[in-house]
Amino acid sequence: MLDLANVKAPIETANGLPNGCYVDADLYQHEQNTLFRDNWAAISFGKDLPKPGCVKPIEFAGLPVSLMRNQDNEIKVFENVCRHRGMILVSEAQQLRGPITCPYHAWACDLNGQLRKTPHIGGPDVHERDTVNHCDYPLNEVCS
Ligand code: FES
Repeated sequence: MLDLANVKAPIETANGLPNGCYVDADLYQHEQNTLFRDNWAAISFGKDLPKPGCVKPIEFAGLPVSLMRNQDNEIKVFENVCRHRGMILVSEAQQLRGPITCPYHAWACDLNGQLRKTPHIGGPDVHERDTVNHCDYPLNEVCS
């Protein structure tokens, strides 16, 4: 671990953070895990999602997340990853007119993260399977 004694010294004799604080991969990961993933953090402003249907992808603490304003005007945050095969769902900020549709196999979720459509999951023109319950595959919500 880094020696921070000089950083914690009285202001008259203190030094800035050691160079390692800016380049050490292990320290960076430690910060991600202890400062960001386990605590609340402001990651955007409500004005960035001005209307229902607005979505905005960001990377936070190394994770792809997507902010969404739903039809009830609530802002929710989900992992920006399809529950099917892990494709990134939203690649740019936009206002959706319908569901979030995965660019790979077109599974579609509403703005509350609920899986609504699984096109051709059972073969051509078969959009449902008994073994796949849509309720079991919502987007993973991040506390917001
Ligand atoms: S990876 Fe998203 S629908 Fe298949």
